[in-house]
Amino acid sequence: MSIASTSTPVRVRAPGKINVFLEVGCREDDGYHQLATAFQAVSLYEDLTAEHAVGFTMAVSGSVDVSAVPVDDRNLALRAARLLAAETGYRGGVHLEVVKQVPVAGGMGGGSADAAAALVACDALWGTDVGSQELHRLAARLGADVPFALRGGTAIGTGRGDELSAALARGRFDWVLVVNEDGLSTPEVYGALDRHRERHHLDIAPARKTPAVDAAVLQALRAGDAAMLAEVLRNDLQAAALSLRPDLAATLELGESSGALAGIVSGSGPTVAFLAESPEAAAELQAVLDAAGLDALLAHGPVPGARVIG
Ligand code: C5P
Repeated sequence: MSIASTSTPVRVRAPGKINVFLEVGCREDDGYHQLATAFQAVSLYEDLTAEHAVGFTMAVSGSVDVSAVPVDDRNLALRAARLLAAETGYRGGVHLEVVKQVPVAGGMGGGSADAAAALVACDALWGTDVGSQELHRLAARLGADVPFALRGGTAIGTGRGDELSAALARGRFDWVLVVNEDGLSTPEVYGALDRHRERHHLDIAPARKTPAVDAAVLQALRAGDAAMLAEVLRNDLQAAALSLRPDLAATLELGESSGALAGIVSGSGPTVAFLAESPEAAAELQAVLDAAGLDALLAHGPVPGARVIG
């Protein structure tokens, strides 16, 4: 059954993410790495509005610096809209308005969230009604993190990060995020990891083994136990991100000595995520980091994936 297209604009909200565990395995011939990750969607959101238009256009604004965001076909959200149109034979266009909270090139999947939001919004606006399985398939074609932005919550990602399975998670985790205006390029961070492994002949061990999420991470998520999760946070991209941005080490040090249970670089960085014991502890840590001149935001997870909000 197909749902008729709507003439009113469709508004969709999609979350940013933190990788609470990220093990990077070998590099495949296509340049992508095998990995195993535990994603958590957090309460920094991308709000996207889609309305009927003749061509494919977009505009971006937000509470973060958006000056580096392209608004042409380099933008993953516009590519998502075009892909859905091509796959469904939809002949019209769309205008997308994106309001960003997720830092640009920050390792929190903001661009992927925009793409997921664009798929959901255009599917509703155009009445193409492709269903969740097809949306997931299209999402995976757009980028490794896009399927998770569709799904949200807490999930395990394997393959490139796009093969998702459920992770039981109880309760709420409180985070303080230190964001940076100068982003990091994800391919450059993976490249720095590859060079480091080659230099130190570390490529053999990860290449032989299929990456997997530690059982202790799954257990901490299941228990909803922040102190337990803090003990087992891991990100194989962290050292590579620190090699490109040595200033992040001082940020990690400051947060960890100021009440955080633990700190971790989020994905490919440079956002640093601190896990706090409670909402109050998070607010106290935010105040300390702010006073030190850092840009610290409060967030909590897990939260839902891309969904229509109006
Ligand atoms: O899929 P996405 O566009 O988000 O990936 C950005 C870049 O991150 C890729 O071009 C690749 O360099 C790197 N990457 C990787 N292995 C993954 C995911 C991403 O090497 N599993």
